[in-house]
Amino acid sequence: MRYPVEFFLALVLTSFAAFGQKTKPALAASSPFPVGAALSPRYLHKHPEYTAVAIREFSSVTAENAMKPRGLSRGRGKYHWSTADSLADFARKHRKQLHGHTLVWHESVPEWVKSFSGDPAAYEAILQEYIFDVGTHFRGKVKSWDVVNEALSDSAGAMRKSVWLTHLGPGYVARSFRYARQADPDAKLFYNEYGVEYDSVKLAAALRMVDDFRQRNVPLDGIGLQMHISISTPEAGIRKALREFARRGLLVHISELDVRINTTKDSLLNETPELFAKQAEKVRQVVRAYVEEVPPAQRFAITTWGVADPNSWVMKFRKKEDYPLLFDKNYRPKKAYFAFLDGLTPNPSSRERAAGRKPGRGGQTGN
Ligand code: G3I
Repeated sequence: MRYPVEFFLALVLTSFAAFGQKTKPALAASSPFPVGAALSPRYLHKHPEYTAVAIREFSSVTAENAMKPRGLSRGRGKYHWSTADSLADFARKHRKQLHGHTLVWHESVPEWVKSFSGDPAAYEAILQEYIFDVGTHFRGKVKSWDVVNEALSDSAGAMRKSVWLTHLGPGYVARSFRYARQADPDAKLFYNEYGVEYDSVKLAAALRMVDDFRQRNVPLDGIGLQMHISISTPEAGIRKALREFARRGLLVHISELDVRINTTKDSLLNETPELFAKQAEKVRQVVRAYVEEVPPAQRFAITTWGVADPNSWVMKFRKKEDYPLLFDKNYRPKKAYFAFLDGLTPNPSSRERAAGRKPGRGGQTGN
């Protein structure tokens, strides 16, 4: 691919800007665990500032959409690899770990699967083939996978309706993990979920699932807590969720962090400095809670869902003005960015608390 001269110029300028301001140290370089961002080829290599920040600040990459079933699958046994491969190349070139997202998700079911009809064995074969094909394609390129995403509903911890639940029953979740392990024995396998930090019933259901998997030797290595939260999400729930999964010895990934400041019903927002300060405080709380509640060996990464505010999914999906990420529209670090750095250093008082606490089991579950 050829880049225009302006691209390189902007890359140099943003790097200088980063040096000139009190922005550094870059997030990943300051963190004892990987710090990631969800990236999209719509911006990468097309927007120089986006690309420069992605290279400079993060040590881990998740594909925001390119590695989902609807991004990859074009029919049974037919795949569109090039977009996802370009992200994998970017990660390899810049020595970032690549987190695969996601093999199975009710919201990303290819059209041909929606119109498929067959008995449960036929659906099982489709699921197994897909996981095998994709898992082997990215073997050696990804460090980890979100194997199943959001299998729990928001109603009293029940299973979420999906093509897979309808045709295969709830056992599809555990079997997906077994297929993923066969496809890529070296990848760390995650269950990824949202809302467990503010919905205690959903948290309890997720913990039951984890306990059940461990009892049955389902190969689950880690939990992804998406962490799409707002400035009003209580810290206590965030800590409780992190603590409960850490206690079970799982790797813990804060996998899709963003913090909304628009908690009003209005589509437009008067974005005041106070709101950005509250956002920074919430980011600090999340990072600090992660450091204090999750033992070092179980800290997989914290990943933000996007790079800069205008790239975020939030405005499009919630149809509300918002500014949920760590970089502003000019790719300048926000208060929330510095709060992230600050959160990496535990409070002395909580350090003592942590020292008095029994560490998690440290190892990974399953095999
Ligand atoms: O690229 C096409 C474009 O060509 C087309 O013109 C346009 C028309 O709407 O659609 C574009 O694709 C959209 C894509 O985002 C890129 O903007 C898809 O329709 C849209 O469905 C897709 O939304 C993504 C969503 O997951 C569904 O896959 C969001 O970007 C992505 O941020 C969001 O991410 C999810 C995680 O995977 C799971 N957790 C929640 C999180 C937020 O919803």
